[in-house]
Amino acid sequence: MARLKDLKTVGVAGSGLMGSGIAQVAAMSGYEVLLLDVSKAQLEKAVSSMTSSLEKLVQKEKISENQKTETLKRIKITTDMKTFSTADLVVEAATENPKVKLELFRQLDQICGARTILVSNTSSIPITRLAAVTARPDKVAGMHFMNPVPLMKLVEGIRGFKTSDATFEVVRKFAESMGKTFIESKDSPAFVVNRILVPMLNEAVFALQEGLATQEDMDTAMKLGCNFPMGPFELLDYVGLDTALAIMEVMHQETGDSKYRPCTLLRKYVEAGHYGRKNGKGFYDYT
Ligand code: CAA
Ligand code: NAD
Repeated sequence: MARLKDLKTVGVAGSGLMGSGIAQVAAMSGYEVLLLDVSKAQLEKAVSSMTSSLEKLVQKEKISENQKTETLKRIKITTDMKTFSTADLVVEAATENPKVKLELFRQLDQICGARTILVSNTSSIPITRLAAVTARPDKVAGMHFMNPVPLMKLVEGIRGFKTSDATFEVVRKFAESMGKTFIESKDSPAFVVNRILVPMLNEAVFALQEGLATQEDMDTAMKLGCNFPMGPFELLDYVGLDTALAIMEVMHQETGDSKYRPCTLLRKYVEAGHYGRKNGKGFYDYT
């Protein structure tokens, strides 16, 4: 798959916050989409969140009712990875866990055609390491979308050690064909956005732990004092506390630098099952 015009079918592995958003924007841009998850319940949740996002876009007159219907028709949900044998490009958007992703890349390499490009939406895990478990490291790259995918304009592109120029060009053009702005980052833990954002979120939890101010006041401070659309605790709830912690663990382990150590209070929230908006409980209560 060396040219964008040959890209017709996109596989998306993982149908959580990000996978559902990526599937939606790819289908809105005319691609046929196969959306995979290990959980049937999660796939059903993904269909309802894509439907509600598309309905918001219809209300705002960004798309027509017909475009909404056609978009949903282009998305097929599945729990069987074998359907990915017809995919021209696969976006891996499963849980931010190195073991899960390495296993997925091994399986994708077995199932997908030899020309299929495999990209990961990982927030922090080295692309070179994911590519190394495949027999096609030249056709593996990072493609880091931002949450919420239908609204956020950025995609970070990451070249692994062996990513070919031809692959990277298709990835760039694929992002642009979905209306995204593409920037290029080195394959360094957490890339650009999370290298800068995640230590700030971690610092907010350290500040909460030491009693600097209430979480509400710190959120207000960053919204009114810096014009951030969300305060750090609102954003942690939006991203997912489990995902944010996983990113911090990778940054800390990969660099060995104590400045990236995750705050104990964040770990406690995750251990207590507070994952954020996605399960109704984070720093705030959504139930
Ligand atoms: N699809 C379609 N429309 C949506 C939507 C979605 N998924 N989510 C929200 N909207 C619409 C709403 O309907 C609303 O429309 P109106 O303006 O017509 O009312 C509009 O977007 C604004 O939404 P809200 O009023 O609910 O909330 P908001 O004003 O706070 O905007 C937001 C929502 C765009 C998410 C904004 O709060 C924001 O930009 N937050 C910061 C997001 C951010 O920082 N993302 C990056 C996270 S880090 C990351 O992604 C990398 C990583 O690896 C962790
Ligand atoms: P999530 O927890 O909402 O969803 C992950 C999904 O992956 C779940 O539905 C889970 O069932 C599924 N999954 C797990 N193992 C799987 C497998 N073997 N095959 C298929 N599906 C599997 O997580 P998310 O927030 O959507 O994050 C997904 C990826 O995107 C992560 O790598 C994360 O770091 C990255 N990311 C997240 C954000 C964010 O703000 N949440 C932003 C950018 C990138």
